[in-house]
Amino acid sequence: MGKQNRTHPAGAATAAVHGAQISAEGFDALATPVYRGSSTFFPNTAAQRAKVDVLGLDYTYGLHGNPTQYTLAQRLADIEGAQHCLLCPSGLNAIVLVAMAVLKTGSHWLIPGNVYNPVHALAVRLKADFNIAFDVYDPLDLDALENLIRPETQLLWAEAPGSITYEVPDLTRLLQIASSKNLLTAIDNTWSAGLTYKPFGTDGAAQPSFDFSIQALTKYQCGHADVLMGAVLSSNTLAFAEVEKRNRAYGVGVSPEDCALVLRGLLTLPLRYKAQGNAALEIAQWLQSQPEVGKVLHPALAECPGHVHFKAHFTGSASVFSILLKSEYGDIHACRFVDSLQIFKIAYSWGGPESLALAGILPADRLSQILDGNGSLVRLAIGLEDVADLKADLRQALDAMKEVNTNQE
Ligand SMILES: Cc1ncc(COP(=O)(O)O)c(C=O)c1O
Repeated sequence: MGKQNRTHPAGAATAAVHGAQISAEGFDALATPVYRGSSTFFPNTAAQRAKVDVLGLDYTYGLHGNPTQYTLAQRLADIEGAQHCLLCPSGLNAIVLVAMAVLKTGSHWLIPGNVYNPVHALAVRLKADFNIAFDVYDPLDLDALENLIRPETQLLWAEAPGSITYEVPDLTRLLQIASSKNLLTAIDNTWSAGLTYKPFGTDGAAQPSFDFSIQALTKYQCGHADVLMGAVLSSNTLAFAEVEKRNRAYGVGVSPEDCALVLRGLLTLPLRYKAQGNAALEIAQWLQSQPEVGKVLHPALAECPGHVHFKAHFTGSASVFSILLKSEYGDIHACRFVDSLQIFKIAYSWGGPESLALAGILPADRLSQILDGNGSLVRLAIGLEDVADLKADLRQALDAMKEVNTNQE
Protein backbone atom coordinates (compact mmCIF):
# COMPACT_ATOMS: atom_id res chain seq x y z
CA MET A 1 0.00 0.00 0.00
CA GLY A 2 1.31 3.44 -0.85
CA LYS A 3 2.02 5.94 1.90
CA GLN A 4 -0.65 8.37 0.63
CA ASN A 5 -3.34 5.77 1.32
CA ARG A 6 -2.49 5.29 4.99
CA THR A 7 -5.02 6.56 7.50
CA HIS A 8 -4.17 9.29 10.02
CA PRO A 9 -5.36 10.00 13.54
CA ALA A 10 -8.07 12.62 13.59
CA GLY A 11 -6.19 15.28 15.61
CA ALA A 12 -6.89 18.83 14.48
CA ALA A 13 -3.27 19.55 13.52
CA THR A 14 -3.00 16.37 11.46
CA ALA A 15 -6.36 17.03 9.85
CA ALA A 16 -5.22 20.55 9.02
CA VAL A 17 -2.17 19.19 7.20
CA HIS A 18 -3.51 15.97 5.70
CA GLY A 19 -7.24 16.66 5.58
CA ALA A 20 -9.69 16.88 2.69
CA GLN A 21 -8.33 17.23 -0.80
CA ILE A 22 -11.25 17.71 -3.17
CA SER A 23 -10.71 15.96 -6.46
CA ALA A 24 -10.59 18.10 -9.62
CA GLU A 25 -12.30 15.37 -11.60
CA GLY A 26 -15.36 16.80 -13.38
CA PHE A 27 -13.98 20.34 -13.30
CA ASP A 28 -12.68 21.30 -16.71
CA ALA A 29 -11.69 24.87 -17.67
CA LEU A 30 -9.40 26.74 -20.03
CA ALA A 31 -6.95 28.11 -17.48
CA THR A 32 -4.12 25.84 -16.34
CA PRO A 33 -4.22 25.50 -12.53
CA VAL A 34 -1.29 26.93 -10.57
CA TYR A 35 0.27 23.86 -8.99
CA ARG A 36 2.46 24.65 -6.00
CA GLY A 37 4.64 22.24 -4.06
CA SER A 38 8.25 21.86 -3.04
CA SER A 39 7.77 18.27 -1.83
CA THR A 40 6.31 15.98 -4.50
CA PHE A 41 4.88 12.81 -2.93
CA PHE A 42 5.96 9.34 -4.04
CA PRO A 43 3.64 6.37 -3.44
CA ASN A 44 6.47 4.28 -1.98
CA THR A 45 10.25 4.14 -1.59
CA ALA A 46 10.78 2.14 -4.74
CA ALA A 47 9.11 4.88 -6.79
CA GLN A 48 11.20 7.53 -5.05
CA ARG A 49 14.45 5.64 -5.73
CA ALA A 50 13.51 5.04 -9.36
CA LYS A 51 13.35 8.78 -9.93
CA VAL A 52 16.77 9.82 -8.66
CA ASP A 53 18.51 11.86 -11.43
CA VAL A 54 15.53 11.64 -13.80
CA LEU A 55 15.44 14.61 -16.21
CA GLY A 56 12.58 15.92 -18.34
CA LEU A 57 8.86 15.65 -17.82
CA ASP A 58 8.76 13.87 -14.49
CA TYR A 59 7.77 14.77 -10.96
CA THR A 60 10.58 14.48 -8.44
CA TYR A 61 10.92 17.78 -6.57
CA GLY A 62 9.22 21.15 -6.88
CA LEU A 63 12.30 22.88 -8.26
CA HIS A 64 12.43 20.57 -11.26
CA GLY A 65 8.93 20.98 -12.62
CA ASN A 66 5.22 20.52 -12.04
CA PRO A 67 2.14 20.37 -14.34
CA THR A 68 1.85 24.17 -14.66
CA GLN A 69 5.47 24.48 -15.74
CA TYR A 70 5.39 21.49 -18.07
CA THR A 71 2.19 22.71 -19.71
CA LEU A 72 3.80 26.06 -20.51
CA ALA A 73 6.98 24.37 -21.80
CA GLN A 74 4.98 22.04 -24.06
CA ARG A 75 2.91 24.91 -25.50
CA LEU A 76 6.03 26.93 -26.26
CA ALA A 77 7.59 23.92 -27.99
CA ASP A 78 4.41 23.45 -30.05
CA ILE A 79 4.31 27.14 -31.06
CA GLU A 80 7.94 27.22 -32.22
CA GLY A 81 8.03 23.70 -33.64
CA ALA A 82 10.61 22.29 -31.19
CA GLN A 83 10.71 18.90 -29.52
CA HIS A 84 11.96 20.14 -26.14
CA CYS A 85 11.62 23.25 -24.00
CA LEU A 86 13.17 24.22 -20.70
CA LEU A 87 11.87 27.21 -18.74
CA CYS A 88 14.38 29.60 -17.15
CA PRO A 89 13.98 32.53 -14.76
CA SER A 90 14.98 35.05 -17.45
CA GLY A 91 15.89 35.23 -21.11
CA LEU A 92 19.48 35.99 -20.14
CA ASN A 93 19.56 32.91 -17.91
CA ALA A 94 18.44 30.77 -20.88
CA ILE A 95 21.38 32.17 -22.85
CA VAL A 96 23.81 31.47 -19.98
CA LEU A 97 22.61 27.86 -19.62
CA VAL A 98 23.19 27.10 -23.30
CA ALA A 99 26.66 28.68 -23.21
CA MET A 100 27.58 26.74 -20.04
CA ALA A 101 26.26 23.48 -21.49
CA VAL A 102 28.28 23.72 -24.71
CA LEU A 103 31.49 25.56 -23.77
CA LYS A 104 34.41 24.20 -21.75
CA THR A 105 37.73 25.68 -20.68
CA GLY A 106 39.81 26.11 -23.83
CA SER A 107 36.87 26.18 -26.22
CA HIS A 108 35.90 29.10 -28.42
CA TRP A 109 32.59 30.59 -29.58
CA LEU A 110 31.42 33.19 -32.05
CA ILE A 111 28.90 35.94 -31.32
CA PRO A 112 27.54 38.55 -33.75
CA GLY A 113 28.41 42.23 -33.48
CA ASN A 114 24.72 43.08 -33.03
CA VAL A 115 24.20 40.60 -30.18
CA TYR A 116 22.05 41.52 -27.16
CA ASN A 117 24.77 43.38 -25.24
CA PRO A 118 24.68 41.25 -22.03
CA VAL A 119 25.75 38.27 -24.19
CA HIS A 120 28.93 40.15 -25.01
CA ALA A 121 29.37 40.80 -21.29
CA LEU A 122 28.82 37.07 -20.66
CA ALA A 123 31.50 36.19 -23.22
CA VAL A 124 33.95 38.57 -21.49
CA ARG A 125 33.09 36.98 -18.12
CA LEU A 126 33.53 33.39 -19.40
CA LYS A 127 36.89 34.34 -20.89
CA ALA A 128 38.11 35.83 -17.61
CA ASP A 129 36.74 33.08 -15.36
CA PHE A 130 37.12 29.90 -17.46
CA ASN A 131 39.44 30.78 -20.36
CA ILE A 132 36.63 30.30 -22.88
CA ALA A 133 37.64 32.37 -25.92
CA PHE A 134 35.28 34.25 -28.23
CA ASP A 135 35.30 36.35 -31.37
CA VAL A 136 32.75 38.84 -32.62
CA TYR A 137 31.62 38.41 -36.24
CA ASP A 138 29.89 40.78 -38.63
CA PRO A 139 26.40 39.27 -39.17
CA LEU A 140 26.37 40.66 -42.72
CA ASP A 141 29.80 39.30 -43.71
CA LEU A 142 29.67 35.52 -43.39
CA ASP A 143 32.85 35.06 -45.49
CA ALA A 144 34.70 36.79 -42.68
CA LEU A 145 32.84 34.61 -40.17
CA GLU A 146 34.23 31.47 -41.81
CA ASN A 147 37.76 32.77 -41.29
CA LEU A 148 37.15 33.14 -37.54
CA ILE A 149 36.33 29.46 -37.02
CA ARG A 150 39.11 27.57 -35.21
CA PRO A 151 39.56 23.86 -34.39
CA GLU A 152 38.37 24.58 -30.82
CA THR A 153 35.24 26.54 -31.91
CA GLN A 154 32.18 24.84 -30.37
CA LEU A 155 29.28 27.24 -30.67
CA LEU A 156 28.02 29.69 -33.29
CA TRP A 157 25.62 32.21 -31.76
CA ALA A 158 23.09 34.12 -33.86
CA GLU A 159 20.47 36.75 -33.19
CA ALA A 160 17.95 37.71 -35.87
CA PRO A 161 17.43 40.54 -36.17
CA GLY A 162 20.25 41.66 -33.88
CA SER A 163 19.65 44.02 -31.00
CA ILE A 164 19.30 47.77 -31.46
CA THR A 165 20.43 47.90 -35.14
CA TYR A 166 18.17 45.04 -36.38
CA GLU A 167 20.27 43.53 -39.18
CA VAL A 168 19.16 40.02 -40.21
CA PRO A 169 21.97 37.70 -41.37
CA ASP A 170 21.71 35.06 -44.09
CA LEU A 171 20.57 32.32 -41.71
CA THR A 172 20.62 29.55 -44.33
CA ARG A 173 24.25 30.22 -45.16
CA LEU A 174 25.14 30.60 -41.48
CA LEU A 175 23.66 27.16 -40.73
CA GLN A 176 25.47 25.63 -43.71
CA ILE A 177 28.80 27.01 -42.47
CA ALA A 178 28.13 25.67 -38.96
CA SER A 179 27.15 22.26 -40.26
CA SER A 180 30.26 22.00 -42.48
CA LYS A 181 32.44 22.71 -39.41
CA ASN A 182 30.44 20.60 -36.92
CA LEU A 183 29.51 23.56 -34.71
CA LEU A 184 26.49 23.67 -32.47
CA THR A 185 24.22 26.62 -33.26
CA ALA A 186 21.98 28.81 -31.12
CA ILE A 187 19.71 31.66 -32.12
CA ASP A 188 18.16 34.30 -29.91
CA ASN A 189 14.72 34.15 -31.55
CA THR A 190 12.98 36.53 -29.14
CA TRP A 191 12.13 39.08 -31.85
CA SER A 192 10.02 36.52 -33.71
CA ALA A 193 8.44 35.17 -30.49
CA GLY A 194 8.68 31.78 -32.22
CA LEU A 195 5.93 32.94 -34.62
CA THR A 196 7.55 34.59 -37.63
CA TYR A 197 10.85 32.71 -37.89
CA LYS A 198 11.01 28.93 -37.40
CA PRO A 199 14.53 27.92 -36.33
CA PHE A 200 13.76 24.20 -36.44
CA GLY A 201 12.34 24.25 -39.96
CA THR A 202 8.74 24.08 -41.08
CA ASP A 203 6.73 20.97 -41.88
CA GLY A 204 8.08 19.15 -44.92
CA ALA A 205 10.86 21.68 -45.61
CA ALA A 206 14.32 20.11 -45.79
CA GLN A 207 16.29 23.02 -44.36
CA PRO A 208 19.08 23.10 -41.82
CA SER A 209 17.97 23.76 -38.23
CA PHE A 210 19.40 25.49 -35.22
CA ASP A 211 20.32 23.29 -32.26
CA PHE A 212 18.93 25.80 -29.76
CA SER A 213 16.49 28.68 -29.81
CA ILE A 214 16.36 31.18 -26.96
CA GLN A 215 13.18 33.02 -26.07
CA ALA A 216 13.00 35.91 -23.61
CA LEU A 217 9.39 35.15 -22.57
CA THR A 218 9.58 38.45 -20.68
CA LYS A 219 8.69 40.15 -23.98
CA TYR A 220 5.74 38.97 -26.12
CA GLN A 221 4.82 35.64 -24.51
CA CYS A 222 4.21 37.32 -21.16
CA GLY A 223 3.01 40.37 -23.06
CA HIS A 224 1.94 42.39 -20.04
CA ALA A 225 5.31 43.62 -18.70
CA ASP A 226 4.89 41.88 -15.36
CA VAL A 227 6.92 38.63 -15.56
CA LEU A 228 10.57 37.84 -16.21
CA MET A 229 11.09 34.41 -17.76
CA GLY A 230 13.03 32.71 -20.55
CA ALA A 231 13.17 29.40 -22.40
CA VAL A 232 15.61 27.16 -24.20
CA LEU A 233 14.00 25.27 -27.08
CA SER A 234 15.62 22.49 -29.07
CA SER A 235 15.03 19.48 -31.29
CA ASN A 236 18.56 18.17 -30.69
CA THR A 237 17.82 15.69 -27.89
CA LEU A 238 21.43 15.04 -26.88
CA ALA A 239 22.44 18.70 -26.83
CA PHE A 240 19.25 19.63 -24.96
CA ALA A 241 19.98 17.01 -22.26
CA GLU A 242 23.26 18.81 -21.56
CA VAL A 243 21.33 22.04 -20.96
CA GLU A 244 18.91 20.25 -18.65
CA LYS A 245 21.83 18.82 -16.66
CA ARG A 246 23.29 22.32 -16.18
CA ASN A 247 19.90 23.62 -15.16
CA ARG A 248 19.62 20.85 -12.56
CA ALA A 249 23.18 21.27 -11.30
CA TYR A 250 22.90 25.06 -10.94
CA GLY A 251 19.61 24.83 -9.03
CA VAL A 252 17.57 26.94 -11.43
CA GLY A 253 13.76 26.93 -11.44
CA VAL A 254 10.75 29.11 -12.26
CA SER A 255 7.67 30.08 -10.28
CA PRO A 256 4.37 28.35 -11.16
CA GLU A 257 2.53 31.65 -10.63
CA ASP A 258 4.72 33.26 -13.27
CA CYS A 259 4.11 30.30 -15.59
CA ALA A 260 0.36 30.76 -15.21
CA LEU A 261 0.74 34.44 -16.17
CA VAL A 262 2.74 33.51 -19.28
CA LEU A 263 0.18 30.81 -20.15
CA ARG A 264 -2.46 33.51 -19.97
CA GLY A 265 -0.31 35.70 -22.21
CA LEU A 266 -0.02 32.91 -24.79
CA LEU A 267 -3.80 32.97 -25.36
CA THR A 268 -3.45 36.32 -27.13
CA LEU A 269 0.19 36.08 -28.27
CA PRO A 270 -0.38 35.87 -32.06
CA LEU A 271 -3.01 38.63 -31.95
CA ARG A 272 -0.88 41.00 -29.90
CA TYR A 273 2.25 40.25 -31.91
CA LYS A 274 0.46 40.99 -35.16
CA ALA A 275 -1.29 44.14 -33.89
CA GLN A 276 1.88 45.58 -32.36
CA GLY A 277 3.99 44.54 -35.36
CA ASN A 278 1.59 46.22 -37.80
CA ALA A 279 1.45 49.36 -35.67
CA ALA A 280 5.26 49.46 -35.43
CA LEU A 281 5.66 49.09 -39.19
CA GLU A 282 3.16 51.87 -39.84
CA ILE A 283 4.97 54.15 -37.40
CA ALA A 284 8.38 53.18 -38.82
CA GLN A 285 7.22 54.07 -42.35
CA TRP A 286 5.75 57.34 -41.13
CA LEU A 287 9.01 58.19 -39.33
CA GLN A 288 10.89 57.75 -42.62
CA SER A 289 9.05 60.82 -43.90
CA GLN A 290 9.74 63.02 -40.85
CA PRO A 291 12.41 65.62 -41.70
CA GLU A 292 14.43 65.12 -38.50
CA VAL A 293 14.86 61.36 -39.08
CA GLY A 294 17.86 60.20 -41.11
CA LYS A 295 17.23 56.46 -41.21
CA VAL A 296 14.83 53.91 -39.75
CA LEU A 297 16.41 50.61 -38.69
CA HIS A 298 13.48 48.22 -39.05
CA PRO A 299 14.27 44.99 -40.92
CA ALA A 300 11.04 45.09 -42.93
CA LEU A 301 12.18 48.37 -44.53
CA ALA A 302 14.45 48.23 -47.57
CA GLU A 303 16.88 50.77 -46.08
CA CYS A 304 17.71 48.49 -43.12
CA PRO A 305 20.87 46.43 -43.77
CA GLY A 306 19.98 42.72 -44.02
CA HIS A 307 16.45 43.47 -45.34
CA VAL A 308 16.91 40.92 -48.14
CA HIS A 309 17.50 38.17 -45.55
CA PHE A 310 14.54 39.36 -43.47
CA LYS A 311 12.34 38.85 -46.54
CA ALA A 312 13.78 35.37 -47.11
CA HIS A 313 13.40 34.12 -43.53
CA PHE A 314 10.56 35.97 -41.79
CA THR A 315 6.79 35.93 -42.24
CA GLY A 316 6.08 39.01 -40.12
CA SER A 317 7.70 41.56 -37.87
CA ALA A 318 7.88 42.55 -34.21
CA SER A 319 7.29 45.96 -32.67
CA VAL A 320 10.76 47.13 -31.67
CA PHE A 321 13.08 49.11 -33.97
CA SER A 322 15.44 52.10 -33.94
CA ILE A 323 15.69 55.45 -35.63
CA LEU A 324 18.80 57.45 -36.48
CA LEU A 325 18.31 61.18 -36.11
CA LYS A 326 19.89 63.32 -38.82
CA SER A 327 23.54 64.30 -38.33
CA GLU A 328 22.70 67.77 -36.93
CA TYR A 329 20.96 66.14 -33.95
CA GLY A 330 23.36 64.68 -31.38
CA ASP A 331 22.89 62.89 -28.07
CA ILE A 332 21.56 66.01 -26.34
CA HIS A 333 18.75 66.16 -28.93
CA ALA A 334 17.99 62.45 -28.63
CA CYS A 335 17.66 62.85 -24.85
CA ARG A 336 15.36 65.87 -25.25
CA PHE A 337 13.28 63.95 -27.79
CA VAL A 338 12.83 60.98 -25.46
CA ASP A 339 12.30 63.15 -22.37
CA SER A 340 9.58 65.08 -24.25
CA LEU A 341 7.48 61.99 -25.03
CA GLN A 342 4.20 61.93 -23.12
CA ILE A 343 2.77 58.46 -23.90
CA PHE A 344 6.01 56.52 -24.42
CA LYS A 345 7.73 55.56 -21.16
CA ILE A 346 11.52 55.55 -20.76
CA ALA A 347 12.43 51.96 -19.95
CA TYR A 348 14.27 48.81 -21.01
CA SER A 349 12.48 45.81 -22.52
CA TRP A 350 9.76 45.52 -25.18
CA GLY A 351 6.74 43.42 -26.12
CA GLY A 352 4.46 44.82 -23.41
CA PRO A 353 1.24 46.85 -23.86
CA GLU A 354 3.00 50.18 -23.25
CA SER A 355 5.21 51.96 -25.77
CA LEU A 356 8.80 52.55 -24.66
CA ALA A 357 11.72 54.69 -25.82
CA LEU A 358 15.44 54.75 -25.03
CA ALA A 359 18.19 57.09 -26.25
CA GLY A 360 21.89 56.34 -26.41
CA ILE A 361 21.83 52.61 -25.60
CA LEU A 362 24.23 51.46 -28.30
CA PRO A 363 27.86 50.94 -27.21
CA ALA A 364 30.04 53.78 -28.57
CA ASP A 365 32.05 51.57 -30.96
CA ARG A 366 28.91 50.22 -32.65
CA LEU A 367 27.32 53.66 -32.78
CA SER A 368 30.33 55.12 -34.56
CA GLN A 369 30.18 52.29 -37.16
CA ILE A 370 26.67 53.25 -38.26
CA LEU A 371 26.65 56.99 -37.70
CA ASP A 372 29.72 58.27 -39.58
CA GLY A 373 30.49 60.58 -36.68
CA ASN A 374 27.23 62.48 -36.20
CA GLY A 375 23.61 61.87 -35.35
CA SER A 376 22.04 59.82 -32.61
CA LEU A 377 20.04 56.63 -32.13
CA VAL A 378 16.71 56.14 -30.35
CA ARG A 379 15.08 52.74 -29.88
CA LEU A 380 11.29 52.57 -29.90
CA ALA A 381 9.13 49.67 -28.72
CA ILE A 382 5.52 50.03 -29.83
CA GLY A 383 2.75 48.91 -27.48
CA LEU A 384 -1.00 48.56 -27.86
CA GLU A 385 -2.00 52.24 -27.78
CA ASP A 386 -3.71 54.02 -30.71
CA VAL A 387 -1.29 54.56 -33.57
CA ALA A 388 -2.56 58.10 -34.19
CA ASP A 389 -1.83 59.05 -30.56
CA LEU A 390 1.67 57.55 -30.76
CA LYS A 391 2.44 59.43 -33.99
CA ALA A 392 1.21 62.69 -32.44
CA ASP A 393 3.37 62.06 -29.38
CA LEU A 394 6.46 61.39 -31.53
CA ARG A 395 5.77 64.47 -33.65
CA GLN A 396 5.47 66.84 -30.68
CA ALA A 397 8.64 65.34 -29.15
CA LEU A 398 10.56 65.89 -32.43
CA ASP A 399 9.39 69.51 -32.35
CA ALA A 400 10.45 69.87 -28.71
CA MET A 401 13.85 68.39 -29.59
CA LYS A 402 14.51 71.20 -32.03
CA GLU A 403 14.20 73.72 -29.19
CA VAL A 404 17.47 72.50 -27.64
CA ASN A 405 19.75 74.97 -29.43
CA THR A 406 17.34 77.89 -28.98
CA ASN A 407 17.20 77.29 -25.24
CA GLN A 408 20.99 77.11 -24.93
CA GLU A 409 21.63 80.39 -26.71
C1 LIG B 1 17.05 40.03 -27.75
C2 LIG B 1 16.97 39.80 -26.27
N1 LIG B 1 17.34 38.60 -25.80
C3 LIG B 1 17.31 38.32 -24.50
C4 LIG B 1 16.89 39.25 -23.59
C5 LIG B 1 16.93 38.92 -22.12
O1 LIG B 1 15.67 38.71 -21.60
P1 LIG B 1 15.40 38.90 -20.04
O2 LIG B 1 15.18 40.37 -19.83
O3 LIG B 1 14.20 38.06 -19.78
O4 LIG B 1 16.62 38.40 -19.32
C6 LIG B 1 16.50 40.52 -24.02
C7 LIG B 1 16.05 41.55 -23.05
O5 LIG B 1 15.92 42.70 -23.36
C8 LIG B 1 16.55 40.80 -25.40
O6 LIG B 1 16.21 42.02 -25.88
